[in-house]
Amino acid sequence: MHILITGGAGFIGSHVVRHFLKNHPAYTITNLDKLTYAGNLANLHDIDQQPNYRFVKGDITDGDFLMRLFAENRFDGVIHLAAESHVDRSIANPTEFVVTNVLGTVNLLNAARASWHPDYSGKRFYHISTDEVYGSLGREGLFTEETPYDPHSPYSASKASSDHFVRAWHDTFGMPVVISNCSNNYGSFQFPEKLIPLFINNIVNRKPLPVYGKGENIRDWLWVVDHAEAIDVIFHRGRNGETYNIGGHNEWSNIDLIRLLCRIMDTKLARPSGASEKLVAYVTDRAGHDLRYAIDSSKLQRELGWVPSISFEKGLELTVDWYLSHAEWLDDVTSGGYQRYYEEMYGNR
Ligand code: NAD
Ligand code: DAU
Repeated sequence: MHILITGGAGFIGSHVVRHFLKNHPAYTITNLDKLTYAGNLANLHDIDQQPNYRFVKGDITDGDFLMRLFAENRFDGVIHLAAESHVDRSIANPTEFVVTNVLGTVNLLNAARASWHPDYSGKRFYHISTDEVYGSLGREGLFTEETPYDPHSPYSASKASSDHFVRAWHDTFGMPVVISNCSNNYGSFQFPEKLIPLFINNIVNRKPLPVYGKGENIRDWLWVVDHAEAIDVIFHRGRNGETYNIGGHNEWSNIDLIRLLCRIMDTKLARPSGASEKLVAYVTDRAGHDLRYAIDSSKLQRELGWVPSISFEKGLELTVDWYLSHAEWLDDVTSGGYQRYYEEMYGNR
């Protein structure tokens, strides 16, 4: 099999590339990535010399380029992760999210169709999406695959739109597709604009921890390595045209998660108990901030037998250890452009 993975230099994508190279050594993997601020080839240093791995720098918003890439390669499958992924950035610059997440996905569908039509046998287009398309839950209930779409942020609206286009290519053109909608991921190589790596970095540097609103919002956290495993299972055994929710049954309010993280950081950095929590600073809430996400992943467990492998406490500790032992990676990605972004977003906080 020759698989095209888009966004493979990003957080989840790099774990998916690594997982596929390790678990499917007979496959050829082409990683297509634009290398935006979130894409980093250092995320792939341990595997980039493997003979069955190839990196292509390119932009999914460039339809002609994609047509050429598909004409020059006989891809059997696409695993599409490339996207603008940060909600706060989507509030600051919505159009970029429409162009990358919607137009980019349609370009990819067009190129795959042009290459595969009319014989789709053995082909698969796998679109990686998010639970945020379902909107916000109250205190009760879980998102199932039947939950109506109700996105609120420009990011989630763009992902919802891309999901609809993928289904349209299945229904209209017979494209073999599968979609998964996953909850919040955490783990190594996550860009430190997202809650967990941002707060680890700020604690190390004794900077304030900007908690949006009252910290009462709830997220359902999944270790990125478990997400990569779920993607493998769904890519190979998921039913054509279906959607699978992925989540860890692991709900945490932001403030409880932050307190746990602070305790772990105090221990790891040998600081007095309570030192990290003193850095908590409540700031203006995110606009349109969804209250609660929680995933019912029973379909995936029932049909394909996938279950998360580790507890959150264990996964979070492993994650902290990784960031503390990769200070160079963190310094590298937090310099330059990132610094300017952080100042614009948070001012002097
Ligand atoms: P990320 O921001 O870390 O990585 C995105 C990657 O896409 C980067 O390598 C970037 O360079 C690349 N990219 C962006 N625009 C591109 C373009 N125009 N052409 C080619 N490449 C481009 O994102 P992530 O957190 O790894 O998320 C990956 C996917 O998973 C996204 O589709 C996201 O919506 C989805 N997702 C993320 C989470 C999460 O918690 N992070 C949860 C569920 C779903
Ligand atoms: O649910 C899946 C989604 O999870 C993915 O689709 C997105 O790509 C990914 O970014 C993530 O979105 P969130 O907005 O939930 O993640 P983030 O890490 O930005 O924020 C997690 C929670 O923490 C959220 O309630 C907002 C809050 N937060 C975040 C930041 C960055 C803060 O309180 N302070 C912060 O500085």
